Amino acid sequence: EHTAGVHGLPKIILREVRGCSAEVYLYGAQVTSWKNEHGEELLFLSSKAIFKPPKAIRGGIPICFPQFGIQGSLEQHGFARNRFWIVDPDPPPFPTITSNKAFVDLILQCSEEDVKIWPHRFEFRLRITLGPGGDLMLTSRIRNTSTDGKLLAFTFAYHTYFAVTDVSEVRVEGLETLDYLDNLKNRERFTEQGDAITFEAEVDKIYLSTPTKIAIIDHERKRTFVLRKDGLPDAVVWNPWDKKAKAIPDLGDADYKHMLCVEAACVEKPIVLKPGEEWKGRQELSAVPSSYCSGQ
Ligand code: BG6
Repeated sequence: EHTAGVHGLPKIILREVRGCSAEVYLYGAQVTSWKNEHGEELLFLSSKAIFKPPKAIRGGIPICFPQFGIQGSLEQHGFARNRFWIVDPDPPPFPTITSNKAFVDLILQCSEEDVKIWPHRFEFRLRITLGPGGDLMLTSRIRNTSTDGKLLAFTFAYHTYFAVTDVSEVRVEGLETLDYLDNLKNRERFTEQGDAITFEAEVDKIYLSTPTKIAIIDHERKRTFVLRKDGLPDAVVWNPWDKKAKAIPDLGDADYKHMLCVEAACVEKPIVLKPGEEWKGRQELSAVPSSYCSGQ
């Protein structure tokens, strides 16, 4: 379903039979809403989000490409999140049965302007799928379309903002005991200590070579998000906390309490493609009720 979003920006709504839905802006190919069958919003979107190019939309799932963070020649997190993508009118079929799956394929082609700031040729195809149980799948295929033998090297993240009741009551499982780069300390390398990750201050860490499954447990709402990833070895965890939140103009002062970014990413070692080569990176999200006592 094609419709107009904030400021008339085109967006697409995916719906699933039980009433789950997802909304995607062509601007940034950004998922801005993901709702379960009860109509509850599962992604955080800032009340102060600015839906005006070239500003990226604050919340949902921004795509960080071709550069994650500030390390590189481009603006922070690259340009994919502030370009208009096009809908593929004739998407290739699923390898398996397509029934019960709502999906859209969006394409980012490098414009001549982009080639000036980043001298590479690529095609980026993003498939966004809402599965029968309401699971949200994002699959990126990036191909090096260079004709002059040039390698394509990039870093990447699905910068997912999960909606949580109170971030200080949230626990993340699957990252304990791993090595991480601390973005708050010049990307110095540390090893995570302790049983599970909880939040009581600003955090901005790049966990390295993580398991493919990460759980985000919202104790207050009795909900567990399960993030599964493929082709993306790292995971970024970010919350700006109170002071940093005040310095972000498109984030409400208290918004940090209701969001947590856990991002399937490839940051430490860039992906390098030879001409004609394609890379595939997937993130799958599900949200399930969790039992209060066990936290599972
Ligand atoms: C996170 C980074 O992924 O994104 C942080 O690790 C950064 O360092 C945050 O501050 C938000 O970035 P932006 O550009 O959307 O404000």
